[in-house]
Amino acid sequence: MKGRHNFSAGPGALPESVLREAQQAIAEVPEVGVSVLGISHRSRWFREVVDEAEEHLRVLLGIPAHYRVLFLQGGSTQQFSQIPMTLLRGAAHPAEYLHTGYWSGKSIPEARREGPVRVLWSGESDGFRRLPTDRELETSAEATYFHYVSNETVEGLQFHRVPGRDEVRRICDMSSDLLGAPVDMGRYDLIYAHAQKNLGPSGVTVVIVHDDVVAATPKDLPAMLDYRLHAEARSVYNTPPVFAIFVTLLVLRWLRSEIGGLDAMASINRRKAERLYGTLDGLKGVCRVWAAEPDRSRMNVLFDFAEPRLTPVFLREAEEAGFLGMEGHRTLPDTVRVSLYNAVTEASVDALAGFLEDFARING
Ligand SMILES: Cc1ncc(COP(=O)(O)O)c(C=O)c1O
Repeated sequence: MKGRHNFSAGPGALPESVLREAQQAIAEVPEVGVSVLGISHRSRWFREVVDEAEEHLRVLLGIPAHYRVLFLQGGSTQQFSQIPMTLLRGAAHPAEYLHTGYWSGKSIPEARREGPVRVLWSGESDGFRRLPTDRELETSAEATYFHYVSNETVEGLQFHRVPGRDEVRRICDMSSDLLGAPVDMGRYDLIYAHAQKNLGPSGVTVVIVHDDVVAATPKDLPAMLDYRLHAEARSVYNTPPVFAIFVTLLVLRWLRSEIGGLDAMASINRRKAERLYGTLDGLKGVCRVWAAEPDRSRMNVLFDFAEPRLTPVFLREAEEAGFLGMEGHRTLPDTVRVSLYNAVTEASVDALAGFLEDFARING
C-alpha cells in the first residue's frame, strides 16, 4: 500500500497496523499456536475475542447494560428484513420510514413484506440531494417504530442530528458511519451496521439492540433471524465469521489505544471532511458537490465535474497517481465518491486535495 491511498466506499480501508496484525494472525495466533483461520469458534480463545470486542463497543459507544451486542451474518440487508419480521408482523400501526437515498430505498420494500409502512418523506423526486428538516416530518406517536439511515453511502448524505420522536422505537442503519463519531445510544432501540466501512472486514454485522426488542421476537421465526437465540448464544449460535470478528476486535483496540476513542475520531473525521469539501468549494465551476451543505456526509464525499467528460479522465489519472476506489456508485455513473472512513488518514486526504487542485488547474 506504500504510496497508495484507498478511498473505497466499502469494503473500505483498514488501519495499516491492523492489517499487519491480521497478517501475523493468519500465519499464527501466538497464544494459540495455529492460524486464526483454523481455530474453533467454540474455543476459549474465540469466546474471549467476542467478549473483548463487545466490551470495546460498550465503552466506545456508552452502551448500557440493557442492550445486547450481537455479531451476526447476512449483512445489513438481512437487517432490512429481520427488523420488520421481529416488530412489524401483525402490528396495528405502521412503521415509519424515511426514504433518503439508495439504501433506505432498499429497506422499505423489505419492511412492506412484513406489515404496514408509512414513508414519511422521500427525496427521490429531487435525486436525493438533501435530507428532510424536522418540520417536514409528520411523525406519529403511535408508530410501531421509526427507521432511518444515518449516512446514505451512495449519495453522501448524513444526518447531523437524531430525527424522530423519543417515545417511538427508533431504529437506525448506521452501516457507513458507526464509530465515526459518538452516538447517543439511549435514544435508539436498535442500531445495526455491517463491519466493512469503519469496523472491520465484510462478513459480520453488529446489531446493538434493546432488551425489550429482543423480548418481542416472535416465536416462529427461523433460528438465524431470531435475535433472542443469538443473544442467548452470545453470537455463537452457529459458526460465526471468526476471522471477520477477530479483525473487528483489532480495529476496536486500534480505535481505543491509537486514536483515543470516538471524540478524537470525530475530530479527525471532521478535519478530513472540511479539507476535502473546502477544496471542492474552492473549485466551484469545475467541481460540484452532490449534497446540500447542511447534509454533507463526513464519510462519503460525492461530487461531479461541470464537464461530464472530465469524470473518467479524473478517475483514470487519479488511479495512476495512487488514489484508488473513487468511482461513484453504479446508479450514479458520472460521479466521483471519496470515502473518508476512519482508517483513511489526514495525509491521504491532503494528498488527494492537492491532486484535485492540480487536475482542476490543468483541465478546468
Ligand atoms: C447504509 C447501508 N445500508 C445497507 C447496506 C447493505 O449492506 P450489506 O451489503 O452488508 O447487506 C449498505 C451497503 O453498502 C449501506 O451502505
